[in-house]
Amino acid sequence: MKDIVISENIKYIGVDDNDIDLFENQYTVPNGISYNSYVILDEKIAIMDTIDKRKTTEWLNNLNEALNGRNPDYLIISHLEPDHAYNIETIVNKYPNIKLVGNNKTFAFLPQFFDIKDLEQRKIEVKEGDTLNLGKHKLHFLMAPMIHWPEVMMEYEESEKILFSADAFGKFGTLSTNEDWDCEARRYYFNIVR
Ligand SMILES: [Fe+2]
Repeated sequence: MKDIVISENIKYIGVDDNDIDLFENQYTVPNGISYNSYVILDEKIAIMDTIDKRKTTEWLNNLNEALNGRNPDYLIISHLEPDHAYNIETIVNKYPNIKLVGNNKTFAFLPQFFDIKDLEQRKIEVKEGDTLNLGKHKLHFLMAPMIHWPEVMMEYEESEKILFSADAFGKFGTLSTNEDWDCEARRYYFNIVR
């Protein structure tokens, strides 16, 4: 796993992609891109987003390592674009009891990407200001429509004061690239977020 430490109970499980030439088939990414994903370990366990198809194997390895034999309770779906969300069905198949957490637009769009038979029983629909208790950790849901896609939402974790910001503060270039943040963040903002 990449050597990125968030905190004792929040683990980074994302993967760098240095093999990609064009992000979304149109933006050059000379230093690749990172697909970010996290696990919050508490009495309940939440996975924060999945990642792109291209790095499924590496991501599942990171996930297994972070879970250390435990089963996740929730998959939080910040954004349905395939670089965040391709592995939703993978996770549902791997963990049959997992609940999917999204907003009304998440669940309106989700069937266009995946055929999840028991979605009605599996979904937890949240709206602006709703919270989800994991134990010591508590997620606050913040709707962020049109920060790239219509169904985007962010999560603020109260106890550690961490914002999971979906695409909002993204940048081109992998996390292991040694470069200034602002140029590639600016290019990402103009082309992707705006
Ligand atoms: Fe996106």
